[in-house]
Amino acid sequence: MDFSVKSGSPEKQRTGCLVVGVYESRRLSPVARSLDQAAGGYLKNILKRGDMDGKCGQTLLLHDVPGTACQRLLLVGCGQERELDTAKYRSAVAAAAQRLNETGASDALSYLADLHVKGQDMHWKLRQIVEATEAALYVFDQLKSEKDKIRRPLRKLTLGVTDKKDTQTAEAAITEGQAIAAGVRLARELGNLPGNICTPTYLGDQARELAKAKGKRKAKATVLDRKDMEKLGMGALLAVAQGSEEPPKLITLEYQGGKKGDKPVVLVGKGVTFDTGGISLKPGAAMDEMKFDMCGAASVLGTLAAVIRMQLPINVVGVIPATDNMPSGKAIKPGDIVTSLSGQTIEILNTDAEGRLILCDALTYAERFEPDTVIDIATLTGACIVALGSHAAGLLSNQPSLAHDLLQAGEAASDRAWQLPLWDDYQSQLDSNFADMANIGGREAGTITAACFLSRFTKKYHWAHLDIAGVAWKQGKEKGATGRPVPLLTQYLLDRVAEK
Ligand code: BES
Ligand code: MN
Ligand code: ZN
Repeated sequence: MDFSVKSGSPEKQRTGCLVVGVYESRRLSPVARSLDQAAGGYLKNILKRGDMDGKCGQTLLLHDVPGTACQRLLLVGCGQERELDTAKYRSAVAAAAQRLNETGASDALSYLADLHVKGQDMHWKLRQIVEATEAALYVFDQLKSEKDKIRRPLRKLTLGVTDKKDTQTAEAAITEGQAIAAGVRLARELGNLPGNICTPTYLGDQARELAKAKGKRKAKATVLDRKDMEKLGMGALLAVAQGSEEPPKLITLEYQGGKKGDKPVVLVGKGVTFDTGGISLKPGAAMDEMKFDMCGAASVLGTLAAVIRMQLPINVVGVIPATDNMPSGKAIKPGDIVTSLSGQTIEILNTDAEGRLILCDALTYAERFEPDTVIDIATLTGACIVALGSHAAGLLSNQPSLAHDLLQAGEAASDRAWQLPLWDDYQSQLDSNFADMANIGGREAGTITAACFLSRFTKKYHWAHLDIAGVAWKQGKEKGATGRPVPLLTQYLLDRVAEK
């Protein structure tokens, strides 16, 4: 989609479709009111007839409205004026995008930034229009032989601002919004691709592609294979990989946007390209969804894609341990004991708790980048879905101010996380009679004990863990990857840049 800004009086704009908000109880937004005046009360009359009551997400398409220069006018319901919050705003924007895409107008001019949203400024609104529009129009059809053809899809969306001094804000908001939308899109594509296509090798190739992106500030991709990892001593990661025919990879993508000596933020993403559970085999129902078990990795690549596109002045490193988790004659068995890269030994009591095994070696590997901060992102535990559902990612951290910054970033980006405790009280659940620790902590507090496991490998730096099991993809009719938490992570990095 092509986005641009324009200021000027709404009624004078020549466009395929003008987009304005209306509230419940027939209240008009400021721009809708000025159009109504130009049209001699035309809009008020239509609303009076009851064709639309302004509920959030409703749309009504009008043609050749008198007194205006646009071909069409799309009214978008925004609910009660005083209740318009971030979530409702995003759904109104999404509804508008869907409808626009079906109208036959290939260009439109949206004045939805004219609405007042509780606690949000112009920059936020404009950025959300870009992000929510791109998200709403996303379809994954690359593997369908017949695509749903839309006759004249929306190709160009202009963001209307009534005050000329908002134009600069708008340019910046569009740049950010497009970068984040592209990152989300990449994460969704990778997540949606099946395990037979999106393999560890494929993820490595994607990192190499990102390193080719144009721009002065470059990223460097490195892909280690099984032999390299054996030499390093990544016994935990390789233990998971040993049951699979598919070659495992350790992928790093180093972006240098800041000064050479600036300590980087390292993002570590779980890249299990398919999780069968291994010998502790998962039940068959919905097992296909375990192709999404690399969504942490996808979010790392998506975030780096956004960072590279914006050329942020900050150093960021992505680290992705990637492998399948398969049962086979060569697979790890319950009771097996392996030695991690850190030297600590692990008794594998359940081969389905594989995410933490590949992450612990990647987290130890992250030390070599002398990180300022390390954040890992993983579809780690079903327990996180039980605790938080699909609304918030679980957040655990050994550094309160880092946790605080991530929570704030999630709030600002409409991609929320919620903190769980990482108290020592839980650590003893990982006790093992035979090794330094077990890889599972029993039935209670599964998300916390998984993070406790990781915390034993992250003592040397400030670290946060995002459990995205509940938010990385949707189930049911809308089954598909969401691209979360790319918005949260990118916002966090943007905030760091702004604070410098
Ligand atoms: N990838 C799964 C976690 C998961 C399950 C995410 C379902 C989303 C939906 C992870 O590898 C796993 O299997 N975790 C186990 C851990 C348990 C064996 C301690 C789980 O959550 O059941
Ligand atoms: Mn598993
Ligand atoms: Zn898994």
